Amino acid sequence: MNSEEIEKLKKAGEIAQMIIPYAKGFIKKDMLLLEIAEKIEKKIEELGGKPAFPVNTSINHVAAHYTPSIDDKSTAKGLLKIDFGVHIDGYISDNAFSLNLEHNENNNRLIHAAEEALKNVLNEINSKMSFSQAGEIIQKSIMKHGFAPIRNLSGHGIAPYIIHAGKTVPNYDNKNDNVLGEGYYAIEPFATNGNGSVHEGGESGIYALIKKKPVRDELARKIIQFIEHNYKTLPFCSRWIVKEFSSRALFSLRILEQNGIIKHYPQLVEDGGGIVSQAERTLYISKDEVILC
Ligand code: CO
Repeated sequence: MNSEEIEKLKKAGEIAQMIIPYAKGFIKKDMLLLEIAEKIEKKIEELGGKPAFPVNTSINHVAAHYTPSIDDKSTAKGLLKIDFGVHIDGYISDNAFSLNLEHNENNNRLIHAAEEALKNVLNEINSKMSFSQAGEIIQKSIMKHGFAPIRNLSGHGIAPYIIHAGKTVPNYDNKNDNVLGEGYYAIEPFATNGNGSVHEGGESGIYALIKKKPVRDELARKIIQFIEHNYKTLPFCSRWIVKEFSSRALFSLRILEQNGIIKHYPQLVEDGGGIVSQAERTLYISKDEVILC
């Protein structure tokens, strides 16, 4: 990455770091998830960034990929994970934190385990660390607290306008002895008191454009243009599209999905019904330094 690109990434990271205390300051139990997501997305824009994907507000055994729909009545409770991204011209800072909205000691310990796993990796990370070493640190940190890491969720490489690019940073020792090298990664440990794996659950309303093809439906064509212009290959959600085009757009989104033009990301649910916590941070590793962003 050249210095201009690194500056964009740093700026995205600075905005993300301002969002965390802002969000922690206003999120309360029983607040509408819709209000939480929209406040965070609005604040990202006020601070000069753009949301890199819809704010995810996943609760308890839902590990990831829940964003409120436009008329969502669900409220904050339990162990709430806020996973959000900020981008500047496609340079993305991907972050997450967890909140315990009950008086529940187990939730506190789960959150602590994920946060400590992340901290322990960040303390040691450099270009010569292997993927398996990063995974081993996460696994041991989480298991020390009596919990399991989620093995089929992982950190990931990032590229401009691509939230999951190529390489996987495992949450357990997966025996991949290749080194991280120079690169741009999100590290995201998930801890659970369940099985340590997730399966695909209900709809999330989160999508991304995967392949442009002609469609007959006129509204669907307009939606493709809107997505290309505003999100390119980044994830977006039905809530954003309905806001622009009214609820008629939901039918067009279905057509786009059936035609393989957009891809839907289902909710990811813990296999054993366990409660899941998450912590996440983005970083850029160069030959001789690690830049948190
Ligand atoms: Co991520």
